[in-house]
Amino acid sequence: MKKNKWGMIALGLVIFLIMVTFPFWYGKGSKTPPPVLSLDTPVIHEMKEKRCVEDTSFMRANHMKMLNAWRDEAVREGHRQYTAKDGRTYEKSLSGTCIQCHSNREQFCTRCHDYVGAKPTCFNCHVVPGEVNK
Ligand code: HEC
Ligand code: HEC
Ligand code: HEC
Repeated sequence: MKKNKWGMIALGLVIFLIMVTFPFWYGKGSKTPPPVLSLDTPVIHEMKEKRCVEDTSFMRANHMKMLNAWRDEAVREGHRQYTAKDGRTYEKSLSGTCIQCHSNREQFCTRCHDYVGAKPTCFNCHVVPGEVNK
């Protein structure tokens, strides 16, 4: 009978320890929270409607394809004007268009790319004069 009692206490202790340490080991393998992307740049600040070239979800999913297409069309075919779905027009340019609005590249592009593990090398060549923060 005595032995049994100690067994129960030991078991209780183990359960107690699991419970108090639960917050420390639970979620160990889970992902880090998504990055906070800053839209705080002079150009975006001035915009009445905060809009990208296309809508946000499209940009999130397709900006890489868009930039590749822009490069090919601008450099190889000489088509340098992009007409968005809503009719607004933009120059097909990485530093001349994207980085005019997103001049805080480090807090925007890079923050997201670090999170997803993407390493575009575009800015080895595309130098951006007057960039707020690379
Ligand atoms: C080895 C240097 C180099 C790298 C790396 C590079 N580019 Fe370029 N890119 C150029 C040059 C040179 C031009 C031609 C400039 C022109 O015709 O206006 C150009 C033109 C472009 C253009 C059209 C013109 C403009 O003003 O932007 C786009 C868009 C573009 N590149 C996107 C990209 C993207 C996206 C990446 C990364 C995936 C990239 N480039 C990487 C050298 C580079
Ligand atoms: C006229 C200013 C402007 C230009 C030019 C612009 N953007 Fe944006 N972009 C914005 C604004 C404002 C938002 C946020 C829209 C929102 O919150 O719904 C945004 C959102 C985005 C997003 C989505 C961010 C998220 O929350 O997931 C991506 C990706 C992006 N832009 C990339 C680009 C790229 C790449 C280019 C060039 C091809 C570009 N942007 C050109 C203003 C601009
Ligand atoms: C909301 C997150 C997010 C933001 C913000 C963002 N990107 Fe990306 N970017 C991605 C993802 C995801 C990929 C795809 C990575 C992959 O396929 O491995 C990518 C890929 C790219 C690529 C292609 C890379 C390659 O090597 O082919 C380019 C170029 C690029 N982004 C440019 C930009 C620029 C310029 C900005 C800022 C104006 C920007 N991105 C902002 C998420 C983002």
